[in-house]
Amino acid sequence: MNRLTSYVGCSALVTGASSGIGRALSLRLAREGARLGLVARRTDALEALAAEIRQTGGEAFVLPCDVSDREQVEGCSARALELLGGVDLLVNNAGYGHHRSFLDWDLADMERVMRVNYLGTLYFTKLLLGQMVERGRGWIVFIASVAGKLATPEESAYAASKFAMVGLAEALSLEVEAKGVHVLTVCPGVIRTPFFDDEALRRMPPVARRSMVEPERLVDAILNALARGRRELTYPRSIAAGYLVRALAPGFMRRQLRRFTLDSTKA
Ligand SMILES: NC(=O)c1ccc[n+]([C@@H]2O[C@H](COP(=O)([O-])OP(=O)(O)OC[C@H]3O[C@@H](n4cnc5c(N)ncnc54)[C@H](OP(=O)(O)O)[C@@H]3O)[C@@H](O)[C@H]2O)c1
Repeated sequence: MNRLTSYVGCSALVTGASSGIGRALSLRLAREGARLGLVARRTDALEALAAEIRQTGGEAFVLPCDVSDREQVEGCSARALELLGGVDLLVNNAGYGHHRSFLDWDLADMERVMRVNYLGTLYFTKLLLGQMVERGRGWIVFIASVAGKLATPEESAYAASKFAMVGLAEALSLEVEAKGVHVLTVCPGVIRTPFFDDEALRRMPPVARRSMVEPERLVDAILNALARGRRELTYPRSIAAGYLVRALAPGFMRRQLRRFTLDSTKA
């Protein structure tokens, strides 16, 4: 187990830094003293974030990249290593999803969800892990989802991509921890970010809407988990009780998930 307790002198690459969780995490890491590589497609949003970080004395580099494009990720990783002189902390956060029935979900978009959420994560991890192992030191954070542990209706393609991330992270953790690389899987519940557009907010079950938390609270929990050397974080933590219920009483869990998701969206 490798605890991350100080970010001074630490170089961090955050994917999906232009918005929501990635943006909040980048700002916090910079405040803690980390040097940042900011990855996303929207250069203007990344430039604005980098300017905000520099204004407060931090260091940040803008690295525009579509994470689903392997060649772009190769170029982006090489540039990050050049600018930062190595990456100590990789945060695989870029991603998106929809609430859509399997029958209505366009196949091309289902493929794209997998390419962005899973393959983007795979590419960055594959390209940056080696230099961590060489130095015997590194941290990789996978921002998966509760949907990567508990599948709910109308999330099929999204849940599949997040289950894939969780599987990759767990296997990798077992392989590389003894080499000095710590893997943290993060499964957020419902976080208030632009991930949810107006339509998604309207369709969201009231119980989920009520449990929505600010990204800064999730960021606090992530830094805390890294400081303690935890391997998995579900936030808010109470949701993790659902994993146990699913394992012990799958039929009951199934009825609850249907009741709180499908039924409430029709109400
Ligand atoms: N919000 C939640 O409740 C919640 C819950 C569980 C898990 N998550 C996960 O948390 C992560 C961040 O989501 P968020 O809530 O912060 O949503 P968000 O505000 O919509 O941010 C998504 C980020 O991903 C980037 N991104 C999307 N597609 C990309 C691509 N092809 N290449 C590069 N970057 C891409 C976006 O940047 P550009 O558009 O500039 O490319 C943006 O910075 C996602 O993986 C999401 O699945 C969120």
